[in-house]
Amino acid sequence: MASDQTMSGTFYGLGVGPGDPELITLKAWRIISQAPVIAYPAANGNDSLARRIAAPFIPEDVTELAIPVPMRVEREPAQEAYDEAAETIARHLDEGRDVAFLCEGDPLFYGSFAYLLARLAKDYPTHVVPGVTSITACAAAISRPLAARNDILKVLPGTLDASRLKAEIAQADAIAIMKVGQHFDKIRGVLNELGLGDRAMIIEKATRDDEKITPLADVPEGERPYFSTILVYKGGEAW
Ligand SMILES: C[S@@+](CC[C@H](N)C(=O)[O-])C[C@H]1O[C@@H](n2cnc3c(N)ncnc32)[C@H](O)[C@@H]1O
Repeated sequence: MASDQTMSGTFYGLGVGPGDPELITLKAWRIISQAPVIAYPAANGNDSLARRIAAPFIPEDVTELAIPVPMRVEREPAQEAYDEAAETIARHLDEGRDVAFLCEGDPLFYGSFAYLLARLAKDYPTHVVPGVTSITACAAAISRPLAARNDILKVLPGTLDASRLKAEIAQADAIAIMKVGQHFDKIRGVLNELGLGDRAMIIEKATRDDEKITPLADVPEGERPYFSTILVYKGGEAW
């Protein structure tokens, strides 16, 4: 912990958007260009997507911290990994260096940044820069409103069991289902039971070079990429 908070560095949580580097905000770009330490999640030693998105803007002479945090939300957050990550970041903050933590999409929208925020914000000056979220990027990819007029939009994790998913979807006008991955067949089964299969699109890797958009009915059975989102709209083209 910093003994004198005025001397410590600032902890930044930066949204870098869903994939296209041009969707990084000017504010995140400025902080990335100035921070002496750039940190990012790197699950199990894998390449970091957040780093890849921001790569064109990361100066060569910065200290980089690849933080080994668990990314798959199906698993219980590994608290020990986040404790260690927070300690690593705190060492730099204690020595007066700002640390910019890169987050795919928005930092506070289903992001692992929340676990670091909970550990560091009480002791260090902290600033969060919002990012373009995956669900807004997916709506843009299919050129369709996420919700319009007085619609109720629900954002659901695909990890929910089928009965809960069904009950939640039944109560909404528009639905974004995240964390589709290995849950695809279950989700499609629920949507078909509700007669919504033909109103759903799956958007994989939105805004990236390998973005893929497919009506749900045209997708073969089986797992989809982790970075997939299903958008459902129950109404007509009311807007
Ligand atoms: C842990 S959440 C992170 C969300 C992120 N913080 C945001 O603001 O969108 C990961 C889920 O977001 C969705 N996602 C993230 N990026 C995506 C993309 N480029 N295209 C489609 N879905 C994406 C997927 O549903 C994925 O399983």
